[in-house]
Amino acid sequence: MRQFSEENLTEAVVARLKDMKNPRFKQIMASAIKHLHAFAREVELTEEEWFEGIKFLTAVGQKCDDKRQEFILLSDILGLSMMIVALNHKTVPGATEATVLGPFFAHGAKEYGHGADLREGATLKGEDVYVSGRVLSLDGKPLANAVLDIWQAKADGIYDVQTEGEFELRGRVKANAKGEYAFKSYKPKFYSVPVDGPVGDLIRATGNHHMRPAHMHAIVSAPGYQPVITHVFVEGDPYLDGDAVFAVKDSLIGRYTKVNDAAEAGKLGMPDPFLKLEWDFRLAPDAGVKARKVIAPSDAVA
Ligand SMILES: [Fe+2]
Repeated sequence: MRQFSEENLTEAVVARLKDMKNPRFKQIMASAIKHLHAFAREVELTEEEWFEGIKFLTAVGQKCDDKRQEFILLSDILGLSMMIVALNHKTVPGATEATVLGPFFAHGAKEYGHGADLREGATLKGEDVYVSGRVLSLDGKPLANAVLDIWQAKADGIYDVQTEGEFELRGRVKANAKGEYAFKSYKPKFYSVPVDGPVGDLIRATGNHHMRPAHMHAIVSAPGYQPVITHVFVEGDPYLDGDAVFAVKDSLIGRYTKVNDAAEAGKLGMPDPFLKLEWDFRLAPDAGVKARKVIAPSDAVA
């Protein structure tokens, strides 16, 4: 057949996939074609509108480099990242829930032991917080030598990787033999997703806000257990109900408490007063589950 119409075009395009070697890729392509055609039909997309779409996608690509990942941001604000997390990482009851990775993970963060000070070299000060807890199995067994990859925004809401300079408020913290971890940092604050690019234009066009509630990111892993990519949010944050990337889970909201105790502050090497966050992570057994991929912006341009 060589004469195509609105009625038979989709079927004809899908039919051309018949020799694809990879069946999963074929399935994904066929579905993408069907949904894209259905989308165009549903909204009766005009050529001018589709060209606007092409210009937008071009701008998204041009905004990307080895530090900036505008496509991850686009996926995040469309809820697609969270949909893929929900589809692929159904939480085993009792395990810490997963949420989005976001665009600011970076490989090569410094390794620390128990009591790490992630404030080292910080260019902006914030409210001092001592974060501690345990990494446990579902039945409460401490997971010796678990590792926590931690990263968070600076006090101005900007991540270290968004600016030139060294890593800040980021590190790989090793738990001790009793599965206990501890590190010093600053209390995270709510922040805006980057809105100086085409995704920012899109958010403004929707009339939505572009804020994320305050959070620390964590990837927690231990041999023999499923690693979890997650956040710890801040109780009382004004944006918990309206996260721009839909990543909030009720089970991931931590309480920061103020400690007014000079002896305790001295023992922990903290100023008096300081904030404390106690937070346990629970990991499900590995059981052959494929580990979730941890992607840094630099991976996408490699
Ligand atoms: Fe974040």
